[in-house]
Amino acid sequence: MTPDPFVSSPTDVAVDAALRAKEPARIAGMFDAIAARYDLLNRVLSGGLDQRWRARAVKALRLRPTDTLLDLCTGTADIALAAAPSAGRVIGVDFSQEMLRLGLDKVRSRGLGHRVTLARGDAMRLPLGSASIDAAAISFGIRNVQQPDEALRELARVLRPGGRLAILEFGLPTSRPFRVLYVWYSNRLLPAVGRLISRHASAYQYLPESVSRFPAPEVFGRLLQANGFPHVEIVPLTMGIVYLYIARK
Ligand SMILES: C[S@@+](CC[C@H](N)C(=O)[O-])C[C@H]1O[C@@H](n2cnc3c(N)ncnc32)[C@H](O)[C@@H]1O
Repeated sequence: MTPDPFVSSPTDVAVDAALRAKEPARIAGMFDAIAARYDLLNRVLSGGLDQRWRARAVKALRLRPTDTLLDLCTGTADIALAAAPSAGRVIGVDFSQEMLRLGLDKVRSRGLGHRVTLARGDAMRLPLGSASIDAAAISFGIRNVQQPDEALRELARVLRPGGRLAILEFGLPTSRPFRVLYVWYSNRLLPAVGRLISRHASAYQYLPESVSRFPAPEVFGRLLQANGFPHVEIVPLTMGIVYLYIARK
């Protein structure tokens, strides 16, 4: 990512080395620990925009009623639930047992158990057959995967030829004044509110730090192209707070 004076020191509290290295057990453990308050914090910290971003990603997939969608890093299944009305079948995969448990509660309470299946698995070794999926989505998950290129290659393997992939990930606003404000918000206010509500010491410090280390949109676009997705469109959402990557195998 291009060095930026506003993101060089995102937090003044250390995120431990195992978390920074995205060791799978440490990442899964962190999401297990914050699962109970995860949805609430998403709504509060994004001012309700997070569900609009997910709806935009689902729309970009142009799902058909016969399609099988993979929601990778499904967490509490928000993409899976948003997509269920348009897809034939949705498979959500995540390695955090607690996030999946809460996701399953939501799926069942909406009567969607016949359409949505949630399974425990690692993005870097998908428990799915080759060319078995019509479309895939990852919202706010790829940044947490230790080897994102491996996950992209796995997605290219399980998608059928021509299959579409939508990825949502945080970025940095393009306008400098807005970026200054946003970086202050995500480095100062967000970790404080996150710590208060989640009662987890570092998860919401890890968030801005991991965002600041994530590749710039054009670099991530090239990573997609190098790992099985030659066609990539990059769409900034909400002035670049979030980027939507729409890719085709
Ligand atoms: C920030 S949450 C996003 C959840 C959901 N997609 C959403 O939009 O709210 C990231 C999720 O990715 C999962 N995750 C991270 N690395 C993973 C991996 N290698 N394999 C499977 N799940 C992973 C975490 O357990 C967590 O539930």
